[in-house]
Amino acid sequence: MSTMVPVLLSLLLVVGPAVPQDTQNKPYSLSFLYTGVSRPKAGIPSFQATGFLNDQAFLHYDSKSGTAEPLGPWKQVDGMVNWEDESQLQQARQDIFMETLKDVMGYYRDRGNHTFKGTFGCEIRNDSYCGAFWKYAYDGRDYIEFNTEIPAWIPLQPEALNTKVKWETEGSVQASKNYLENECPDMLRSYLQYSRPFLDRQDPPSVSITSHVTLGLIRTLKCLASNFYPQPISLYWTQGDSVVETDSWGEGPISENGTYQSWVLLKILSLDKGPYSCHVQHSSLAQPLILTWNESQ
Ligand SMILES: *[C@@H]1O[C@H](CO)[C@@H](O)[C@H](O)[C@H]1NC(C)=O
Ligand SMILES: *[C@@H]1O[C@H](CO)[C@@H](O)[C@H](O)[C@H]1NC(C)=O
Ligand SMILES: *[C@@H]1O[C@H](CO)[C@@H](O)[C@H](O)[C@H]1NC(C)=O
Repeated sequence: MSTMVPVLLSLLLVVGPAVPQDTQNKPYSLSFLYTGVSRPKAGIPSFQATGFLNDQAFLHYDSKSGTAEPLGPWKQVDGMVNWEDESQLQQARQDIFMETLKDVMGYYRDRGNHTFKGTFGCEIRNDSYCGAFWKYAYDGRDYIEFNTEIPAWIPLQPEALNTKVKWETEGSVQASKNYLENECPDMLRSYLQYSRPFLDRQDPPSVSITSHVTLGLIRTLKCLASNFYPQPISLYWTQGDSVVETDSWGEGPISENGTYQSWVLLKILSLDKGPYSCHVQHSSLAQPLILTWNESQ
């Protein structure tokens, strides 16, 4: 297994345009988000699980299908996950998770529709374990979390003391610590042999400027960068040599195909003929991209 890593690494060094030298030191994470609902709407699964490698969703499972399936580019990957085993694992975790939701509703003497969310995962850097988390929220409020240092489950609500006692008498502390510090990083290392090309990829942004006059007096210039990966990007406006403060900015969530978008808005008087320039800096670009707007456009 480990002989594959140098091959992938050297491929990336050849292919990647602006891959920094510290690729080795980049953090990678494996995490899961579980959601359970006590009274789902008709046709909606009561339990759903999503698996993430860094910020990209690669696995989906829900109680309706009862099967774990790959997402996005992982649909084309063979051999990373045994999907039948994975489906059984997720089914078993679903049973425990939904039983916990029932217990928690009991502690609160709640009936009706309630939501339970669990997130857990681990991170490695330079091939070594470097951090982990595991926590649950009930109806949107933090409920209980795991502390790997003590190690122990820490209740975040008075009612969660019941959950802590139940789990700790079941021997969950050592099992959880072992999962987070050993099993999870091992699984992550094995997944990385198949996933580095998706996680290390550099998609350069497409950039456009649009102009929109509102109320006759004010012109709004929007500089939009889209379809880029990874997420960190810097966008700003200049006039001549000086940076102009932007009026607002925004960013989109990761898209279906695993790319981001981000924008900055500048409001000027509609009589102002410019020019104004939008500067874009991203790890995929050897030098900043500069687009200029003036009134003739
Ligand atoms: C229960 O709550 C969840 C989460 O807010 C919601 O998606 C679901 O539709 C609710 N169920 C009903 C029957 O309204
Ligand atoms: C990464 O790990 C290798 C081998 O364990 C070690 O020799 C190297 O110094 C580490 N690099 C950094 C930047 O920590
Ligand atoms: C992502 O999808 C958008 C449309 O939704 C498309 O314009 C873009 O080219 C895609 N990007 C990649 C990297 O496939």
